[in-house]
Amino acid sequence: MYRSLACVSQLFAAALAATNWVNEPDTGLEDYIFSTNYTEGSLPLLKDMRAIPDFDWVARQVMDNQMYSFYRVAAAGETSYRNNLEVWSKVKFRPKVLANHEGLNETLSVSILGYNFSAPFFISPATRANYGDPERAEINFVDAAAEENILYVSALYANKTIEEIGAAKRKHNATMNGPLVTFQQIYTNANLSVTWDAIARAEAANAKAIVWTVDAPGSSTRHRAARYDTTNANSVTSYLSWDLYDQMKERTSLPIILKGITNVEDALEAVERGVPAIWLSNHGGRQVEHSPSPLEVAYEIHRNAPQVFKQVEVLADSGVRYGSDVLKLLALGVKAVGMGRPFMYSNLFGPEGPKKVMKIMKDEILNDAAQLGITDLRNIDLKRLNTRILENEVYLMDN
Ligand SMILES: Cc1cc2nc3c(=O)[nH]c(=O)nc-3n(C[C@H](O)[C@H](O)[C@H](O)COP(=O)(O)O)c2cc1C
Repeated sequence: MYRSLACVSQLFAAALAATNWVNEPDTGLEDYIFSTNYTEGSLPLLKDMRAIPDFDWVARQVMDNQMYSFYRVAAAGETSYRNNLEVWSKVKFRPKVLANHEGLNETLSVSILGYNFSAPFFISPATRANYGDPERAEINFVDAAAEENILYVSALYANKTIEEIGAAKRKHNATMNGPLVTFQQIYTNANLSVTWDAIARAEAANAKAIVWTVDAPGSSTRHRAARYDTTNANSVTSYLSWDLYDQMKERTSLPIILKGITNVEDALEAVERGVPAIWLSNHGGRQVEHSPSPLEVAYEIHRNAPQVFKQVEVLADSGVRYGSDVLKLLALGVKAVGMGRPFMYSNLFGPEGPKKVMKIMKDEILNDAAQLGITDLRNIDLKRLNTRILENEVYLMDN
C-alpha cells in the first residue's frame, strides 16, 4: 500500500516537473492571426503586435533556428532567464484611487547623465542585429531612437561599425528632438590597445558615455546556442579590474557606466570610486545560472544602502516586458530601464518594429501609472508596491 502511494506521488512529481514552461504568455495573438488569412511562418502585420511578448512569439515562428537560438539563449538551465520574466509577480501593486494624475504625462521624460529622453527606457546593447534585418541591422535602432527620442546603447560587436552608427546618427542631427544621443558599450580583454581604440572611435562618433560590461569575465554556458556554434559575442575572457577602470578614466573624458552590477557591495564600491552610473543587469540571464534579476538587486540595494540611488544614476535591464515592470524598478529608485531581446526581435519588422516597441512601452507606462494613482513618474511613492515577498528573500548585509 505504502509502496503504491509512493509510486503515485513520484508520478505526480514527475508530471509537475515535466510541465513545459511557456516562453511567451498567451496574449491572444496566435488565436487572432490564425483566424485571419495569416500564413504560418510568415511575418504578421505590425498592427497586430499589441504586446512586447508578441515579438518573442513572432521571432520563434519566423526566424531560422540558429539565429533565434542566439537571441533567445540564456545560461545553463536558463533559470535566471525565467526568473527575470517571472519575478515581477512577487511584487504586487497597491493602487491608490482619486490621485489626480493631471500632470503625469509631463513626467514621462527622463534625464540620463544630463541628456534628456522622452521616456525612462532605452535600447540595451546587443550584437548581431543583422539576424533581424540583414541589411539595415542596427541602423533601425538609430532611426527609431531618433524619432522617438529614446537612448540607444550600441554594442561593441554590433554588425554596423561604430563609424557607421555615427554616420547614421548624424542624419538625425536636425530632428525636432535635437541630435540623437547614443552611448557605446565595450568589452575589455588583455589586449588593451583594442579597448583604447574602441573608446577613441566612440568619442569620434560622438557617443556620450562608455558602457563597460563587467559581468562577462569568461564565456558562459549556453547550451541552446552551442548546438549551432553561436554562443558568446565576447568569446575571449574579459580583463576586468578596478585598476583598469582607473586607467580608462585617464583615457577618456566620457562618463563610464558599469553594466552588470548584481549586489549591493559592488554598488557601494562603485559609488566610493566615483562611478557616475551603474547598470543593474544579469545580461538577460545569459551569463551565469541563478544570477539575480534587476528587481531583486534593486530591492537589495534599497534595503541595505538606499542612498546609492541618490549618489549615482542607476539603470537596469533583464526581463523587462511590460510598463508595469518599469514602474516597479522606478519606484525603487532606478532612473531608466533597458530592453534587449524585445528590440532585437522587433527588428524583423525593419525600423517600424523598434518604434512600435517604444510606443507600446510609453502607453503602458503612462496608463499603468494612472491606474496605480502615480502622479509623478520621477517620484513614485514606494507605498504603491507590496514588497513583502522580496523582504523574506532579501540579502541583508549585517546578517
Ligand atoms: C542577442 C543578444 C546579444 C547581446 N549582446 C550583448 C553585448 O554585446 N554586450 C552587452 O553588454 N550585453 C549584451 N546583451 C545583453 C543586453 O545588453 C541586455 O543586458 C539583456 O538583453 C537584457 O535582458 P532582456 O533581453 O531580457 O531585455 C545581449 C543580449 C542579447 C539578447
